Amino acid sequence: MAKRVLITGASGLLGRAIYREFLKDNSWETLGLAFSRVKENLKKVDITDENQVKEVISTFKPSVIIHSAAERRPDVVENNPTGTQQLNIQATEHICQAAKSIGAWVLYISTDYVFDGTSPPYNEDAKPNPLNKYGQSKLEGEKITLGASSENSVLRVPILYGDIEYLSESAVTILFENILAGKESIASDYEIKYPTHCGDIAYTIRQLADKRLQIPEKVCGVFHWTSNEKMTKYLMSVAMASAFSLDTKNIIPDKNPSKGAPRPYDTHLSCEKMEALVSGRRTLFSDGIKSVLEPYVKK
Ligand SMILES: NC(=O)c1ccc[n+]([C@@H]2O[C@H](COP(=O)([O-])OP(=O)(O)OC[C@H]3O[C@@H](n4cnc5c(N)ncnc54)[C@H](OP(=O)(O)O)[C@@H]3O)[C@@H](O)[C@H]2O)c1
Repeated sequence: MAKRVLITGASGLLGRAIYREFLKDNSWETLGLAFSRVKENLKKVDITDENQVKEVISTFKPSVIIHSAAERRPDVVENNPTGTQQLNIQATEHICQAAKSIGAWVLYISTDYVFDGTSPPYNEDAKPNPLNKYGQSKLEGEKITLGASSENSVLRVPILYGDIEYLSESAVTILFENILAGKESIASDYEIKYPTHCGDIAYTIRQLADKRLQIPEKVCGVFHWTSNEKMTKYLMSVAMASAFSLDTKNIIPDKNPSKGAPRPYDTHLSCEKMEALVSGRRTLFSDGIKSVLEPYVKK
């Protein structure tokens, strides 16, 4: 089967890392889609428009589609049900239908927020119970993907950081803005997170895609990938400050549940199914975050 991969959301935080990971491997022919940030040879496609989706998929004929584009900010989702329905749900339907017509495998990027966070760790078969509209919309996308073909896959990931275009792009690096400015920052010390480097997810996905082409029957259904470093946003903030020997006394721990859309307490993902198939990568937070933030500290 042709090694042709199409990546949606290739201008986004995770999609960028996935796009670059496949570009590094000459055995793959790679096409990345974007919407408002069309650069680095990305193709502009509005995935909420069914005709545009059909056109790009029937022309490029990918064997693998990594569907990363989504609205992933829980508070934005809460206030924009129509936009979320179009992007997180209907666009997923368009992609899965077009993929089915050419026999392409879809890997849908999902989230640990499909779980309620009351009984970690969650294995791939654990029952989802999203607490907020973002989690519900992503669970809907999972069902569409797996319903379109039993051969399709879902990859759930936790809070992400990686090469950013600006500090507030990631829910992790945004915490560094006040620290860098020497301002007081109040950081949640309640919900438990497992911040994961986008490069690790991208590396793991490329291996999974290779496996899919070699042994398709082993690569279907739900997968998880996460780091195993247990941190609150407060602990991430302290680690970021410490990485650059910055003062931590202005970082104030908030012991209460986060405000806004309800957040699950601890959604630690068990990754056994992925670990049995590929040798994924887990970058230490202290190393990964230092290289991500370095350009901002030098400025
Ligand atoms: N970031 C996290 O912490 C996190 C955690 C768990 C799961 N996830 C999941 O990981 C995936 C990737 O998230 P991310 O952080 O990379 O998101 P992101 O940085 O917000 O990127 C969103 C992407 O969607 C694209 N997009 C938006 N509207 C579009 C449209 N109408 N047509 C085509 N493309 C459109 C954007 O394109 P333009 O920018 O070019 O407009 C961008 O490439 C999502 O499925 C998300 O649910 C993310």
